[in-house]
Amino acid sequence: MGAGMRTSIVAGNWKMNGAFGESRDLVMALAAGVGEGGDAEMLLCPPFVYLDAAARWLESTPIALGAQDVSREGKPGAYTGEVSGAMLADVGCTHVIVGHSERRTLYGETDDGVVAKFRAVQAAGLVPILCVGETLAEREEGHTAAVVTRQVGAVLDTLGADALGEAVVAYEPVWAIGTGRTATPDQAQEVHALIRALIAVQDATIADGLRILYGGSVKGANAAELFAREDIDGGLIGGASLDAAEFLTIFHAATG
Ligand code: PGA
Repeated sequence: MGAGMRTSIVAGNWKMNGAFGESRDLVMALAAGVGEGGDAEMLLCPPFVYLDAAARWLESTPIALGAQDVSREGKPGAYTGEVSGAMLADVGCTHVIVGHSERRTLYGETDDGVVAKFRAVQAAGLVPILCVGETLAEREEGHTAAVVTRQVGAVLDTLGADALGEAVVAYEPVWAIGTGRTATPDQAQEVHALIRALIAVQDATIADGLRILYGGSVKGANAAELFAREDIDGGLIGGASLDAAEFLTIFHAATG
């Protein structure tokens, strides 16, 4: 687990994968393997349509439920296809991923849009997981720090450091997502420390308590060395979260 008093989180981002029966089998296998939970928190983020069922499968387990996205709209109304934070809370979610790079690159989400979603999540009483990270071209051009600073800064400058007191950040270098190419522990640690330092400028206590997850090709075989680093407080796991044994290995790497 990460250093200090921060409890690590291992979150599974299922993306647009699975089917009803498969989802149930996966949840059941994880529930059987998670144990008491203990030193780390497990969180699952299935597709919207399985959330309600997943909440029931997860009853009396220590596993928490999150959504992969949310509407930026705070009030109900004529927003065809949107799902509000209040609805996610209603079916038992506690967390919502916002600003995942797939949303940013495939669906045109902007920093401003991500801030609006972050705000909508908190307004519904849920915890946003703010995803940030640079593309391969941005890294190769030496822009990693600038990109991450801009993405975190969008929330920090608009909502203030207080907003990060009830939030999680996930550093997910785009070039490492689904590519099998993981950031090295040094590469990840460097950016995690930068993110914490950015927030510490405004509020050192909030920065110190903030969980910063690493995401991008985390597997059972590389999780422990990543999670051992000082500023890495768990992971946001895509592909490997669809395999119960693999995800449990990652989870147990975070429980120390
Ligand atoms: P990956 O995805 O683990 O499949 O690389 C991580 C993510 O996109 O959250």
